[in-house]
Amino acid sequence: MSKQSTQQTAIVTGAGGDIGRAICIELAKDGFAVLALDIAKAPNDETIRLVHEAGGTGEALICDILDANDRAKMVEAGRELGAISLLVNNVGAITAESLQQATVENFEQDFKINQLGAFACFKAIEKDLIENKGVLTNIASVNGLGVFGHPGYSAAKASLLHFTRLVAVEYGKFGIRANAIAPGTVRTQAWDERAKKNPQVFEDAKRWYPLQRVADPVDIAKVVSFISSPAAAAISGVCLPVDCGLTAGQAELAGTFAQSEDY
Ligand SMILES: NC(=O)c1ccc[n+]([C@@H]2O[C@H](COP(=O)([O-])OP(=O)(O)OC[C@H]3O[C@@H](n4cnc5c(N)ncnc54)[C@H](O)[C@@H]3O)[C@@H](O)[C@H]2O)c1
Repeated sequence: MSKQSTQQTAIVTGAGGDIGRAICIELAKDGFAVLALDIAKAPNDETIRLVHEAGGTGEALICDILDANDRAKMVEAGRELGAISLLVNNVGAITAESLQQATVENFEQDFKINQLGAFACFKAIEKDLIENKGVLTNIASVNGLGVFGHPGYSAAKASLLHFTRLVAVEYGKFGIRANAIAPGTVRTQAWDERAKKNPQVFEDAKRWYPLQRVADPVDIAKVVSFISSPAAAAISGVCLPVDCGLTAGQAELAGTFAQSEDY
């Protein structure tokens, strides 16, 4: 380590997006020094400005998680901030909407960004996490649990869930915990293109959620904070849906099956 410090560093990828930003702010409030990583500079700088505004400490770093040199800079910057003890793999992106639209090229792209990038970031800081008995928190999706469109993204998120279990089982002896969070629909800028096609997209989606709402980025951030904290010290290898009840079932369908208006 380049710096002797008791400060704990949390590395958050995709920190310029709405969910990544909310996670950085929440972790900073928890006392972590936050290393915010994103390929895009301006939104990531804004994240760190908000971290500082919330009274936290942290730095923004431009980093393409798929680039080995950038990952080496990530490790260096993380150690400068403190002892790297948390990695939140939050980068995610989608390509083809359906298997009929999917190609070998965009399927590979989906796997690189949603799965390989997370694995590569973990490998880059593996020794730090062992040394610091750290935590890995992967942001997956309900798309990794069932079919909700975007096949390449979904298959990669399912793989990310299994990667989470692989880490939990093999690295548990080092004191490392690994968990995943599977959000349902979250109101973020990632939906902008779809909202242009259908401004009612969130209203339409609500129909399928038992809580009759979609999540906000802070809903995800609060669960990341919990599952990455000592309060969750005995939880490892799980996938926690943060989906307003989506994966429990659909009230409308239950009503049809039961022929009851109670649903
Ligand atoms: N928004 C939702 O409804 C939803 C639902 C389920 C899961 N998720 C997951 O939550 C996470 C965050 O979602 P979001 O809606 O905030 O997404 P977003 O697209 O708004 O943010 C993702 C961020 O990742 C950055 N990024 C992309 N490629 C990168 C790379 N190679 N290196 C570094 N940074 C890179 C982007 O610049 C962007 O700032 C993703 O993993 C996503 O799959 C989101």
